[in-house]
Amino acid sequence: MLDQVTKVHDENRQGEAYAPEAADIQTYTKKFYIESYGCQMNFNDSEIVASILKEEGFGPTRNVEEASLVLLNTCSIREKAETTVRKRLTEFQKVKQRNPELLVGVLGCMAERLKAKLLEEEKLVDMVVGPDAYRTLPALIEEAETGQKAVNVLLSREETYDDISPVRLDSNGVTAFVSIMRGCNNMCSFCVVPFTRGRERSRDYRSILQEATDLFQRGYREVTLLGQNVDSYYWVNPVNDAETVTFANLMEKVAQISPLLRVRFSTSHPKDITDEVLHVMAKYENICNYIHLPVQSGSNRILQLMNRTYTREWYMKKVDRIREILPDCGISTDVITGFCTETEEDHQDTMEVMAYSRYDLAYMFFYSERPGTLAARRYQDDVPDDVKKRRLAEVVELHRGQSLASMQQDVGKTFKVLVEGTSKRSEDQLFGRTGHNKVIVFPKENYKKCDYVWVKVDSCTSGTLIGTATGMA
Ligand code: SAH
Ligand code: SF4
Ligand code: F3S
Repeated sequence: MLDQVTKVHDENRQGEAYAPEAADIQTYTKKFYIESYGCQMNFNDSEIVASILKEEGFGPTRNVEEASLVLLNTCSIREKAETTVRKRLTEFQKVKQRNPELLVGVLGCMAERLKAKLLEEEKLVDMVVGPDAYRTLPALIEEAETGQKAVNVLLSREETYDDISPVRLDSNGVTAFVSIMRGCNNMCSFCVVPFTRGRERSRDYRSILQEATDLFQRGYREVTLLGQNVDSYYWVNPVNDAETVTFANLMEKVAQISPLLRVRFSTSHPKDITDEVLHVMAKYENICNYIHLPVQSGSNRILQLMNRTYTREWYMKKVDRIREILPDCGISTDVITGFCTETEEDHQDTMEVMAYSRYDLAYMFFYSERPGTLAARRYQDDVPDDVKKRRLAEVVELHRGQSLASMQQDVGKTFKVLVEGTSKRSEDQLFGRTGHNKVIVFPKENYKKCDYVWVKVDSCTSGTLIGTATGMA
């Protein structure tokens, strides 16, 4: 089903089982197997879970047959995300038949949304654990080991897991995610996240800096600061409320760790991204010029129903402002087609804003009603499926042309590239990303992972730049 179209290679990680970083391989008495779905924060949460389980003597495995614990870290954002997990659970049925001792846990947003109901619906499941309850996993496992079903879906106003150093799973040793906040207070009417992730809270900046510094010292060269709405990061020192840290302040502190550490962030809400943030980006060469600025719709009427709190004019002005302060900044977006009551005219408004914004990258979805959200309670999901999908196909087509044009514009230019590894297609090619987040491949020569290399772009496809190295950067 055409549900979502993305272009970045690492978005294909849905459901991937994690393998441990070499440094973390040691003999464990027990093994756990984890699959993650959904956003980058969820993948990062799995690394927090791995860290908590490590303390309990559990090591990660990619082989479900040798695991005594299977965990699915789930997503509820669209119906399809939940269907995928349910299908996966039926597949684990067979593994459990072979190994009746096996414990199966559902973590993350689907656990939070469905709570104990999930235990009734999915007989196979032994544990249901919400995103703020991972510290209680050891106790829940113990409970489940006695044959009882174990549930903890309490949401917290404070939990940020700030003292937990995530065990980097399936890591390339070059790039890592660092969560800077949890939850969301925005209440976009289509969105389940405020219900599954709870209230917004910002993590102590000192633990963020510590984690990023530690990553740098271990050889990592890029951190992505994660939050549902990073621009509303705001930390107040609990013992001295005169000390406060904004997102711009935080980003500057992270950038100062080393000029060799690249800094990225996601996601920015168009209503919250400030000039201050843009100026900090301009000031530091190591803060990548790339902003994910989800528009969702280009129609003012729909934006209002969505409760996005900006207009198309405001959004387009933001795009102008970004291009003014950061002329070579990559901009990407999320778009939803077929939201409640959307007309052809509204749809054309979306196409217009997309054409105006010239996105380098877009994640496009058709609207999927989520139970309990404001939209589900207030509005009728009245755009027929075939119309939603046709409109999706149209925005995808428009974007395809735009992204190809954006790639072609880079041909002939030279970019500083952080090498992430060997290209999947050829052992003789390396791949990395430019500051504006485009994937680029080039002949290996003597360059290696973690190097910064100047690469001249010779040609491109719609998703990848193809170039030649001209020297170390
Ligand atoms: N915090 C981010 C978005 C997180 S969800 C932000 O505010 O931009 C990622 C994307 O999923 C959203 O931007 C939206 O485009 C899409 N999405 C969320 N709920 C959806 C729904 N009910 N149906 C279809 N797409 C949805
Ligand atoms: Fe959902 Fe809106 Fe919050 Fe993003 S900002 S997580 S779309 S409620
Ligand atoms: Fe999905 Fe939850 Fe992330 S619903 S997108 S995993 S916050």
